[in-house]
Amino acid sequence: MASPAADVVVIVGSGLIGRSWAMLFASGGFRVKLCDIEQQQVTDALENIRKEMTFLEQSGSLKGSLGAQDQLSLISGCLNIQEAVEGALHIQECVPENLELKKKIFAQLDQIIDDQVVLSSSTSCLLPSQLFAGLAHVQQCLVAHPVNPPYYVPLVELVPHPETAPATVDRTHALMRKIGQSPVRVLKEMDGFVLNRLQYAVISEAWRLVEEGIVSPSDLDLVMSDGLGMRYAFIGPLETMHLNAEGMLSYCDRYSEGMKRVLKTFGPIPEFSGATVEKVNQAMCLKVPADPEHLAARRRWRDECLQRLAKLKRQMPSQ
Ligand code: NAI
Repeated sequence: MASPAADVVVIVGSGLIGRSWAMLFASGGFRVKLCDIEQQQVTDALENIRKEMTFLEQSGSLKGSLGAQDQLSLISGCLNIQEAVEGALHIQECVPENLELKKKIFAQLDQIIDDQVVLSSSTSCLLPSQLFAGLAHVQQCLVAHPVNPPYYVPLVELVPHPETAPATVDRTHALMRKIGQSPVRVLKEMDGFVLNRLQYAVISEAWRLVEEGIVSPSDLDLVMSDGLGMRYAFIGPLETMHLNAEGMLSYCDRYSEGMKRVLKTFGPIPEFSGATVEKVNQAMCLKVPADPEHLAARRRWRDECLQRLAKLKRQMPSQ
């Protein structure tokens, strides 16, 4: 049974990401207060979480050591943030990606929180220096950026404000590990953090290759899903270099000139418009028509693949 004295985590915003965080924290045995401004949103979120957890338990993919019923009993909905945050361990903000809205919420929270709680934002691309500027509790603030869908893709980027206390990052790192996520420390804030910078570099070159007629859109995607992506699910680009020669030094010795030669041929930032967007869109729609039903079905398939991959990664012996 879940302990009634479990630490409290408050989630502000019960949309797609807020629901996932709620499930993850409950899987770690935390009591979760899921807050929103709309009662209907909270009701829908709790119902959606109940269905998801029941499905995950039946398919053997529920995280944590508690059963679905115990995890569900740890999550409650709320509309009064002031009451919810009292004595909380951690607050995870998940409202829409709008700087003014987020700043307003952090300013409100700054007035009511104590000196112990960590105040964390799920923002995908707003910088901590914009979000937390001028807050009295800035030392307790950071960004903890998850990856969609967070239940199956465990990475969380921790990005501090220049004035965030190192203990805030350490505590959040430990908390993320405790709920089974895979936190990384972004040591200084940087537009796009790390994940999106890598992602945009890949998208950018993918776009140029299609634009220049080097490869078709569907073959381009295959290069990633049946090529690079196969090993990137287990080892990153730097370890790939290390293993693809007799160690990193040997790789740089052998391949640096070739890499630099190719890199010099990379073109400018694409416009992502015009004839190329039509060509790419046509190819994507041929594979997955862009109506809500087909997109939802393909997302369900993607999530099932990710769920099985996550299981495989857990089962693989670590070296
Ligand atoms: P969403 O639109 O699904 O959910 C936002 C929720 O916040 C809604 O339930 C809304 O009613 C609620 N809300 C609005 N104002 C509020 C307020 N003042 N107080 C409490 N609740 C309020 O948004 P989603 O997709 O969950 O995104 C949330 C955050 O997570 C954004 O910053 C987004 O950039 C970030 N994120 C999103 C990812 C994604 O793939 N959707 C991935 C990683 C991060």
